[in-house]
Amino acid sequence: MFLFDKDNKKNLIFPAVAGYGDFFLRAECLKYGAKLAFCEMLSAKGLVYGCENTFELLYCESTKNIGVQIFGSDPSIIKDAIQFDCVKKFDTIELNAGCPVRKIVTNGEGSALMKSPQLLYDIVKGMKSVADGRAVGVKMRAGFNQNEKNAVECALKCEEAGADYVTVHGRTADMLYSGFSDNSAIMEVKKAVKIPVIANGDIVDLGTFNKIAEETQADGFAIARAAVARPNIFATLLGKNTEIDIKYLLTEHFAKLEAAFGERTALGLIKGHINYNLKGLPNVKDIKVAALLAKNKNELLKALKQINYVTHI
Ligand SMILES: Cc1cc2nc3c(=O)[nH]c(=O)nc-3n(C[C@H](O)[C@H](O)[C@H](O)COP(=O)(O)O)c2cc1C
Repeated sequence: MFLFDKDNKKNLIFPAVAGYGDFFLRAECLKYGAKLAFCEMLSAKGLVYGCENTFELLYCESTKNIGVQIFGSDPSIIKDAIQFDCVKKFDTIELNAGCPVRKIVTNGEGSALMKSPQLLYDIVKGMKSVADGRAVGVKMRAGFNQNEKNAVECALKCEEAGADYVTVHGRTADMLYSGFSDNSAIMEVKKAVKIPVIANGDIVDLGTFNKIAEETQADGFAIARAAVARPNIFATLLGKNTEIDIKYLLTEHFAKLEAAFGERTALGLIKGHINYNLKGLPNVKDIKVAALLAKNKNELLKALKQINYVTHI
């Protein structure tokens, strides 16, 4: 089970990031100092009804320090889902109570769970009853919208049901990813519960990290988008001066994806990463266009070869 270090600034986490948090990126985040990295969110129904794509998201070279995040709304289906052998291999399981995506929310899943703290309680209680020593956490938002900023109430319910930690992203669900994450919403949760609180939202460098750490006094910190772009951000936040070679990162990432899933799937998956990894770099427009238009491995590698950029974060 993930153990929180007394020095809160050492508890760095790569949270679930659908479409990006594959096995290669998770391993990179751990390599650079994250203590725990999550698989992309999995549908509880997808697991229970045997959807092949759902199982693929669990692909790992090692399950050490990797967590699984589940979304759903039916306590008994979620309970069944976390008892599959392929999920039991992971020692942290997390309930997604923060996803703002319309098709998830309209099913009463993700951030819609925050509208019903009692349902959250029932789900977490059920998860704990079959957790078998695994840590059970909940990742939520500050609230569903500005009029329903009830993270404190939800976190207290999760704690009462036996949750081992909560992660709070300081935006409300209706903000999606716009505006700014509100550290005070996280701080209020930290003051209200006794279980560890992981703060999340807009950590992009040492300055934003120190600010959220001071303002929230949280026990850990989850870094999503900045880590997708530069997984070595974890080393930077830990005070280490590291460099990252973007050409190597993308080439290696593609090679690993190809070995695991084949050329065609790997080509589709790597294109999202190209956008993130090349964002903000000078003189990469043509390379980016060529890489995104690549129809096969040779075209992709030819484009990636032209990247010549080593960066800190
Ligand atoms: C493309 C994308 C996919 C995401 N997928 C998930 C997910 O599957 N589960 C989840 O709890 N949060 C998900 N998130 C939210 C992030 O984990 C994180 O809470 C959010 O991006 C704020 O953190 P950041 O400012 O460090 O990026 C996703 C975010 C993005 C941008």
